[in-house]
Amino acid sequence: MNTVNTPFGFDVLTNENRPARHDNHYQRCLSSLRGLFSDEAAYEAELAKADPVVYEVYEIRRPEIAGELPHGLSVVHPGQVGTEFYMTKGHYHAVRDTAEVYYCLKGRGLMLMENEAGVWAAEEFRPGRLVYVPPGWAHRSVNLSLDEDLVTLFVYPGHAGHDYGAIEERGFRKLVMHNDGSSAIVDNPAWK
Ligand code: F6R
Ligand code: ZN
Repeated sequence: MNTVNTPFGFDVLTNENRPARHDNHYQRCLSSLRGLFSDEAAYEAELAKADPVVYEVYEIRRPEIAGELPHGLSVVHPGQVGTEFYMTKGHYHAVRDTAEVYYCLKGRGLMLMENEAGVWAAEEFRPGRLVYVPPGWAHRSVNLSLDEDLVTLFVYPGHAGHDYGAIEERGFRKLVMHNDGSSAIVDNPAWK
């Protein structure tokens, strides 16, 4: 991590859908996402064939303190499990009172959001579009394309932290499904 308090700049997107610099890179393969997709039989059938990378993240890490702004690129690959589009796990920030900005560089998708009062929202991702995730909203990126990566730039407060547990337990209220060449946002029957 570059903890030095010196300005820096870099090309955020190279030809390979990665930034010109990063401190950390991780990949989430299908096998690490058990329980995420609604159609469990389709998930097991896909996994029996292969274990593709569903999404990956390039982080420019910064100290985890208020005042810092960790940022990076999120790349959700194209694909589906059953008829549900590839997506990120989704999370709340551990410190609920922290927001996040996403800016779409490539592809098309949705940011699916919900808060603890049970209100949900979806905002479109397409190149040049910014999505603002207000404090207290869980967020999940969904790739609506079946042949192109969804590439977004994110920036969030250093002290935000991540809470995956609430979403792992409850799921998101809505699912985003492939429906006849288009997409449909439907109720999640397993949502608690
Ligand atoms: C950070 C943030 C992104 C996501 C990334 C992967 O607060 O929202 O960096 O972490 O898009 O998604 P998750 O973390 O839900 O697996
Ligand atoms: Zn976040």
